[in-house]
Amino acid sequence: MKIKNICCIGAGYVGGPTMAVIAKQCPNIKVTVVDINEARIAAWNDDNLDNLPVFEPGLDAIVKEARGRNLFFSTEVDKAIDEAEMIFISVNTPTKTYGKGKGMAADLKYIELCARQIARVSKQDKIIVEKSTLPVRTASAIKDILDNTGNDVAFQILSNPEFLAEGTAVEDLLSPDRVLIGGDTTPEGTKAIEALAAVYAHWVPQERILRTNVWSSELSKLTANAFLAQRVSSINAMSEICEKTGADVNEVSKAIGMDSRIGAKFLKSSVGFGGSCFQKDILNLVYIAKSYGLNEVADYWEQVILMNEHQKQRFSDNIVSTLYNTVSGKKIAFLGWAFKKDTNDTRESAAIKVADNLLNEQAEITVFDPKVVEERIYADLDYLNTRSSEENRSLLKVENNPYETCKSAHAIAVLTEWDEFKTYDWKQIFDNMQKPAFVFDGRGILDKEVLEDIGFVYYKIGTGQ
Ligand SMILES: NC(=O)c1ccc[n+]([C@@H]2O[C@H](COP(=O)([O-])OP(=O)(O)OC[C@H]3O[C@@H](n4cnc5c(N)ncnc54)[C@H](O)[C@@H]3O)[C@@H](O)[C@H]2O)c1
Repeated sequence: MKIKNICCIGAGYVGGPTMAVIAKQCPNIKVTVVDINEARIAAWNDDNLDNLPVFEPGLDAIVKEARGRNLFFSTEVDKAIDEAEMIFISVNTPTKTYGKGKGMAADLKYIELCARQIARVSKQDKIIVEKSTLPVRTASAIKDILDNTGNDVAFQILSNPEFLAEGTAVEDLLSPDRVLIGGDTTPEGTKAIEALAAVYAHWVPQERILRTNVWSSELSKLTANAFLAQRVSSINAMSEICEKTGADVNEVSKAIGMDSRIGAKFLKSSVGFGGSCFQKDILNLVYIAKSYGLNEVADYWEQVILMNEHQKQRFSDNIVSTLYNTVSGKKIAFLGWAFKKDTNDTRESAAIKVADNLLNEQAEITVFDPKVVEERIYADLDYLNTRSSEENRSLLKVENNPYETCKSAHAIAVLTEWDEFKTYDWKQIFDNMQKPAFVFDGRGILDKEVLEDIGFVYYKIGTGQ
């Protein structure tokens, strides 16, 4: 089957960039990205590309090239489903906040709603592609819903998890390490797999397109995220030992990373991992393991999250104890709120937890992030429900200038590794701060020697004093 019309349900951090790249690379395929969130679709259609709802380096140029040619953003979900031969489901799958599995299992209500909508609207055979990250065996639930519509439409369900990293999404999508497609081993299943493989073959070499059964594909995505997060927690665990022993975690990372069995990537110690996926996917893995009675497996992976929580907690504890055991009424300037550089995504960002801890200690916080808007920052804090939104707004201020942010501060906390932070006039920042002037570098991006020469008391994660 040759695909001419693709529909993607969900115009978020995955659906938007993924479909933009497919549209760019396959000009003969019409790609329609739909969402129930009207404001999000309007932002994707905004003439001013600075207003796209997802910031990713290089994404604006791709949207500019393909939008209106073969890339469309719309709220007409039924119409797009009806027209497409292939439908990607790219909706959110957050951790459940209610009922059985609360705080652990993935909430699949949005997935189920999509499946029911597809079942209701479809009049011709379709290939359904799970792009969202899903618990292993979700495809069978989707299939069940689709196969019981009674309208004689045949569906093939494929799993095609997305491995892009926010901040480098465009690069990752244009030259992926691999594309994974899981499907049924029946002749129809194989045909569906090959139809999707042919879409990717427009730009991805064949040897990088992996075909597996559905369950392996679903589980591989959870496994990949668990392994990546585990590396961060492992090096963060070492960072605490480094601080006690006088070792330097960056030197340790380099030394072990040169071992080809270990590899150099994902060995950067920090205030903790964030993002919408790592924690959610590991919790989901833990839940799956527990539901099969695999308690040792569940405990093993849960520790990755506990270590991450500990890292955030000890970062804020260190600020309090270094500032003479009280930050009450003291101004702490945050550089960065996004969970990593080159994205405006703040989901599960370490900055949120660190801010919450310091606000509990009655600190006054000012925040500057080059890409995160004020409403997002307040929404993140309000979501925690620790204090009223009025209190959050009175204790934490958002600035749009880094120098104003740091003015009169007792300490600066670097929470995101934005490159521009390295280029600031740190002497000017120092001159306008309270003394002693402290910098707590949660990303290890600033130059210790330069800052100490200026006069700062500088704390870098993973480095003993
Ligand atoms: N963000 C990442 O880096 C990343 C990477 C790989 C995989 N994933 C996975 O991809 C999936 C999507 O993640 P995201 O970050 O793009 O989420 P997101 O919240 O940014 O986007 C999801 C979108 O789906 C829309 N939506 C929900 N239900 C809908 C429905 N019934 N009809 C139409 N639209 C609907 C929402 O309005 C929202 O705009 C998740 O399963 C996530 O785990 C995310």
